[in-house]
Amino acid sequence: METKNLDADLERIVKKWKDKKGSLIMILHGMQNLYGYVPRETALKLSQTLDVPLARIYEVITFYNYFKLEPPGKHNISVCLGTACYLKGAADLIDEVKKLLEINEGETTKDGLFHLDVVRCLGCCGLAPVMMIDEKVYGKVQRKQIAEILQNYH
Ligand code: FES
Repeated sequence: METKNLDADLERIVKKWKDKKGSLIMILHGMQNLYGYVPRETALKLSQTLDVPLARIYEVITFYNYFKLEPPGKHNISVCLGTACYLKGAADLIDEVKKLLEINEGETTKDGLFHLDVVRCLGCCGLAPVMMIDEKVYGKVQRKQIAEILQNYH
């Protein structure tokens, strides 16, 4: 997702919320809605514009799981680490995805193709261990299948 209008977008959103209560969160929401994440430059500029310490802004961003600091990938991988999946070896699946894509959880690959999240229960524990890529659910996944599954995404 392009962020080239970042200054103008930020200015518009700040203008809208500046004098209202809870403005910091609403501005961060606005940026995340636009870009799918809160770009780092936004946090820096907000700190200067609102005269709020940068540490406070990061505190808010990290407190609410909703905010993301990384751009979303073209394909979003969610590996479940809920109890049922954990007991069936989900940690191995996460390891394998990390190894193959050279990213950690919460990160996006350099080419922007994949983003990895670890989640708690996808609601289909009978299929444990479960992972989801975009809207598609993969059940009873084995570590050795992951490379092949990922190859289907471009
Ligand atoms: S624990 Fe993984 S789907 Fe429920």
